[in-house]
Amino acid sequence: MKKNLLIVDDDIQSVNVLRQQLATSQWLAIGGHATKVEEAWKMLQSIRPDMVLLGGIKETERGVLCQQFRLAHPHLSFIAACTSQELIWEPFFRNLGIWVVAKPIQPGQLEALAMISPNVGATAAAAPLTVQPDGMVSLLSAPSHFPSSVSESPVQPEYHAPPVIQPSSFPTSQKAKHLITVYGPKGGVGKTFISRELAIFFSMQKIEGRSLRVLAVDFNLDLGTFATTLNLPRSPNIYSWVQEIDNQLQAMAKGQGKDPLLVRNEEWQEYASSITLSPHDISKYIVSHTETGLDVLTSPRDIRHSFEIRDYHLYLILETLKHSHYDVILVDTAPDTTDATIQALFFAEQVVMVGNPVVDSIENIQRLLKLLREAEYPETRIQVCMNRLQRKEMFTLDEIRAYFQLHPSKKIFSIPDDAQVKKSINSGIPVMLHPGRSSAKEAIETLGKALLPVDSDKALPKAQSKGKERPALFRWLWG
Ligand SMILES: Nc1ncnc2c1ncn2[C@@H]1O[C@H](COP(=O)(O)OP(=O)(O)OP(=O)(O)O)[C@@H](O)[C@H]1O
Ligand SMILES: [Mg+2]
Repeated sequence: MKKNLLIVDDDIQSVNVLRQQLATSQWLAIGGHATKVEEAWKMLQSIRPDMVLLGGIKETERGVLCQQFRLAHPHLSFIAACTSQELIWEPFFRNLGIWVVAKPIQPGQLEALAMISPNVGATAAAAPLTVQPDGMVSLLSAPSHFPSSVSESPVQPEYHAPPVIQPSSFPTSQKAKHLITVYGPKGGVGKTFISRELAIFFSMQKIEGRSLRVLAVDFNLDLGTFATTLNLPRSPNIYSWVQEIDNQLQAMAKGQGKDPLLVRNEEWQEYASSITLSPHDISKYIVSHTETGLDVLTSPRDIRHSFEIRDYHLYLILETLKHSHYDVILVDTAPDTTDATIQALFFAEQVVMVGNPVVDSIENIQRLLKLLREAEYPETRIQVCMNRLQRKEMFTLDEIRAYFQLHPSKKIFSIPDDAQVKKSINSGIPVMLHPGRSSAKEAIETLGKALLPVDSDKALPKAQSKGKERPALFRWLWG
C-alpha cells in the first residue's frame, strides 16, 4: 500500500518538481502540500498522512514544529529536507528522531523511507484527536495497535536507494505506563514508607510469566530518603541525568550561536520541549534493589544539586519514563507544591493522597483537593489513604470522606499504625518482605491491588488514557 506523504514547504517550485517525479511511484503518494503552518495542521487532520516531509517554512523552526506535530500525531514519521548549509543541523534532527535527506531531494530516498516507515494513516483516522487552536491536543497517546517494534528498531530496507541518513533514535511508541504518584501535603505522614512498600509489592507481582518491571522515583529532590529506606547507594541519581540533559541543551544553544550563560529559563524550556531523550539511557541513572529487582531513580546526594534541577528537566525525565520499558513507575514526592510535585501529580495515572488522621493533615489534604478541583484535575484518579490509623480515632473514615466532599462510593484506604514499620525503615527491609502476615502488610496489598489489579496469567490492564489535562498543565506551569 502506498504511503501518504504531506509536504510542508513554502518552496512551491521544488515541490512541483518532486510531485512530477513521484507521480508514478508505487511506494509513495503526495496527499497534500502545505505552505503555512496553519494549513499543515488542517492537512494533518484531513489527509491523515503516514509521513511528513519538512522542507522549509519561513515563519517557523522545523524542530519545534516537528515536536508540536508529534505531540498531536505521535505515530507520524518525519523527514527534514536540508540544504548543504542546513546539514549542520543533522545531529540535532537525528536527536529528535527525524530522518534527514539532502536537497535536492532524490525521490528514491523518500521511497526508501516510505518502505520502512509504519503505515498509520488508517489507524490515525480512528483516534479521537482534536487539535485546539493553540496547537495543543486533547489526546496524546498513540493507537495501542501501533507496532512498537517498528519505532524502536527501524529496519534497514533491502533496497539500494541513494544514501539515506537515518536517525539514531527513532521515537518509541507512546504506550501508556502506570505512573503512580504518592503524595501528601504534610511532612512525615508516611509517603516514603507507602511508596517503598507499593514499589516492592508491585515488583513481586507477575504478569504473563514474568515479574513486573517497576521503577521507583524519588521526587523529594532536596531531602529525599527513598534510597536509604532500602539500603541503596545514592549514586547515580537524578542529578546525573540532569547534567546529561544540560549538556545536550547547551550544545543546542551553542549550535545556534548563543552563550549558554545568557540563555533565559523560558528559552531553556523551549529547547527542552524540542528534544526527545532515549528511554534506553535510563539504565545509566538507576540503582537496583537486587533482592526484588526493583529499580530506583534516587534524588541527588548533595542538596545543592537539587537547586539546579528545573521544571523542564523534570518534564523531560517524566516524559522519557513514560516511554520506558517499565510497567509501573512509582513516584515519591515531597510535602510541597513545587514544580516537581505538581508535575508528578499531573503526569500520574493515579495518585495516592496520604494523610494521617490528625486535623492538620486532614486540613491540608482538603486544601489540596480544592486546588486540584480548580485545576479540573480528574478526581477519579485520586485514592485517599489514611496512614497510621489506631484502633480508636477521633475521626472516622466516613467523617473524613464527608469533610473532603468525596463521592460516597469512594473508598478511603487505611494503613494501621504498626510498630514493625519503624523497625523496617531502620533496617532497610520492607514490611512486604517480612515473612508472615501483619495488618500493615495486608493493608498495603489491598491498596496495591486497588491501584493495579494484576492477574499473573494476563497482560497488565491498560493505563487510563490521560485525556485533556496536559495542555492545562502547560498553561498552569509555564503560562
Ligand atoms: N503505618 C505506620 N506505622 C508506624 N509508623 C509509621 C507508619 N508509617 C510511617 N511511620 C513512621 O513515620 C515516619 C515517617 O514516614 P515517612 O518518612 O514515610 O513519611 P513521609 O511522608 O515520607 O515524610 P516526608 O514528608 O518527610 O517525606 C517513618 O520513619 C516511620 O517510622
Ligand atoms: Mg518522604
